[in-house]
Amino acid sequence: MADLGFDGKVAIITGAGGGLGRAHALDLARRGALVVVNDLGGSVDGTGSGTTAAQAVVDEIAAAGGEAVANYDSVATPEGGRAIVQTALDTWGRVDIIVNNAGILRDASFKNMDADKVNPVLDVHLRGAFNVTQPAWETMREQGYGRIVNTSSGAGVFGNFGQTNYGAAKMGLVGLTRVLAVEGAKSNIKANAIAPVAKTRMTEDILGPVADKLLPEMVTPVVAFLAHETCPVSGEVYSVGGGRVARVFIGVTAGITDTALTAETVRDRFDEIQDEEGYEVPANLNEELMLALKSLG
Ligand code: NAI
Repeated sequence: MADLGFDGKVAIITGAGGGLGRAHALDLARRGALVVVNDLGGSVDGTGSGTTAAQAVVDEIAAAGGEAVANYDSVATPEGGRAIVQTALDTWGRVDIIVNNAGILRDASFKNMDADKVNPVLDVHLRGAFNVTQPAWETMREQGYGRIVNTSSGAGVFGNFGQTNYGAAKMGLVGLTRVLAVEGAKSNIKANAIAPVAKTRMTEDILGPVADKLLPEMVTPVVAFLAHETCPVSGEVYSVGGGRVARVFIGVTAGITDTALTAETVRDRFDEIQDEEGYEVPANLNEELMLALKSLG
């Protein structure tokens, strides 16, 4: 089968001045996409800013014969999001792909979590995805085409010490992804998410000796697949790192149904409620409600 090409497709990749975003930008550009390389250029905790990081990636793409434009706005504000999308529209007149990748860390145990650690993290990861995706949504609906890839994290999907702020933002992105999948379906807009692991400046101190086996370039193939017009799924989440790709899903157990339910029934039948045998994976809330109704007979 032919390689996955992106000729003429316009892609916005946020936080693409380094790490995972840079790898995504280089690969999509190599495959023919016209890429907005967005990056605020700050530090891992979100302080500071600069133009060097995004520009360096644009230069790298140009040197390899690709086409890209830099944007230095912050995803953390609605104005920033609009300006990022406007860069794509001003340069190429359309936007087909958004990879919401920009991110920062402000870890602390929940006991020590405060507004200065919560708000900026929610602003960049979760609101950032709203801020960048929404200005492009109408364009995508009108053109009957769009691909959105959000960057979630196992820290939120599965839980990780010291990351209540980050975990909440990252699991929030799963909710955003699933609802966008429902709302985008009739316009051929597909939204999916990845939960990556890779050695970047964000993780190099945490990953230890395995870090060198987890190059950012090993995450990008899944982003390219999900961003491609042949992407067969929407609303899904994939765990990706070091060459491993696996589907993450939210399932419900068969559970119990008892119209005279009491706290004691829950206690007495708790093993049945927990039992993973025969679980289902609803595609959306309607499907989950249908399961509930079916169990009522
Ligand atoms: P990174 O720090 O190299 O990349 C993040 C980029 O986002 C930076 O270049 C930074 O300047 C940019 N950025 C930060 N705030 C911004 C803002 N307000 N507007 C625009 N750009 C902004 O780190 P990495 O690892 O490449 O992270 C990429 C994404 O992957 C993040 O969302 C991160 O949370 C996520 N992730 C990474 C994992 C890993 O193992 N590296 C694990 C799970 C998730």
